[in-house]
Amino acid sequence: LGADTPQWRPALHFSPAAHWMNDPNGPILLDGVYHLFYQYNPGGMVWGPMSWGHATSPDLLHWHEQAIALRAKPGEDMFSGTVILDRDNRSGLGNVQHPALLAFYTSVFTDHPDHPDGTQAQSLAYSLDNGATWQAYAHNPILTLQPDSRQFRDPSLTWYAAGQCWIMATVVGDAQVIKLYRSTDLLHWSFLSDFQPSGYRKPGMAWEMPLLVPLPLDGNPQDMRWVMLVSVNPWSIAGGSGVQYFIGRFDGVHFTPDALPPVGADPSAYGWLDHGADHYATARIANTGTGPPTLIGWMNNWDYAQDVPTAPWRGQMTLPAELALKTLDGHPTLVQAPAQPYRDWLARQGMRTYPDRMVGRDRPWRAPFRGDVLDIRLTLRRGDGTRAGLVVRQTPDGKTGTVISYDFTTADLIVDRGHSGDVGFSPKFSPVHIAHLAAPGGVVSLHVVIDRCSVEVFANDGVLRMTDLVFPPADGTNVSLFSTAGSTRFSALRVTVLNR
Ligand code: FRU
Repeated sequence: LGADTPQWRPALHFSPAAHWMNDPNGPILLDGVYHLFYQYNPGGMVWGPMSWGHATSPDLLHWHEQAIALRAKPGEDMFSGTVILDRDNRSGLGNVQHPALLAFYTSVFTDHPDHPDGTQAQSLAYSLDNGATWQAYAHNPILTLQPDSRQFRDPSLTWYAAGQCWIMATVVGDAQVIKLYRSTDLLHWSFLSDFQPSGYRKPGMAWEMPLLVPLPLDGNPQDMRWVMLVSVNPWSIAGGSGVQYFIGRFDGVHFTPDALPPVGADPSAYGWLDHGADHYATARIANTGTGPPTLIGWMNNWDYAQDVPTAPWRGQMTLPAELALKTLDGHPTLVQAPAQPYRDWLARQGMRTYPDRMVGRDRPWRAPFRGDVLDIRLTLRRGDGTRAGLVVRQTPDGKTGTVISYDFTTADLIVDRGHSGDVGFSPKFSPVHIAHLAAPGGVVSLHVVIDRCSVEVFANDGVLRMTDLVFPPADGTNVSLFSTAGSTRFSALRVTVLNR
């Protein structure tokens, strides 16, 4: 194993003190404290026997690791799932004064006396002390698939107000199908429907971590739409694993997507939650009340997750982000913004603003601020430059850096990490990620969140998101702005230096 890498320890993102982590599981807000559970191998630096780790935070930024919540045991691993608060004690496992927390997870049985080898089935554990300790439900598993329950996993729950019932979404991973169930007591689940759009299946692709989210269109509660998210691996838009979504309707039985791109369409025509390489297995934070749905994902890619050069931990979460649905160019469009707790905290950190600046051809501007943890917001206005943007995590010699740019001639947002530092740990660590982005009036806005080993971009108020891991040298703290072939106006530059 390599030496420890404190220079890459995330400051704004959750990472376990040590060992391997993948998917977020059951994030939930309870009495003002955020709880995050996660796929965790407490015994190794690669994926292995899966337990549920547990961490808590007042603000989704500062985390405290807690005791393991659900521990893998001989014959049974705990795969991904969801936690909800059973406020009305529908399950009978708590009581109304002290509602139970319910964790729905996938039991994976290997060499188990009671289950065929490789069975994946949905199980339930409950906690009567705010997630500190957990008991397995006596009649597990609560949901299997007949006749073949392999590859049946990743339950997520959504409250369906119109039917006063809970909806569970699960997948049959290798069949690339989402299965929906309903329940009123959270213990007994009846099958509703399959969601399996044609044209989205690829050889060897797995569907994982399905998530059904209701969202008002343009903030109008009379016009509820539904978004179905699913993590796909491989064949994501940036290579390897990523999160796809469908916008549509849910009638209590079926999820029906709006018009889909024709079978055989270019994958860029599909909905992708993130166009970078490192955003997978996104989960919704439960119990956040009337606020917008907030998602948190695993900032990694199954293509190389087990090779990333951090130590003594492997794996970190994305920045939590809020979802909204807005009509743009006549179409409902999913938009994302860094979650409110982050924005509130950021506002207290002392932002600096800089005057408008024309950046000319061959005259990059070395910014007067630097850092390995930075929040940068700016606007690019088209001039006679063809491509413009910023280099972050740049070394003093200028040879290493991550380039975030917009190409005005092709209308593409580009994140290039080809010379970002350590890129050689896996041949699958893809160098360049490109996504189409319109620039109405020749203007593009960027919100860039830089941490010790990541770059996250929210473009045009969250219409497009790109999340990428990078592993820069410790002296890669410079930022410069550039414009190619002509000049570009940079305006509304607002910077918060966070590496204190
Ligand atoms: C997604 C996933 C899930 C599974 C878990 C196992 O990354 O493959 O489908 O439950 O990870 O750790």
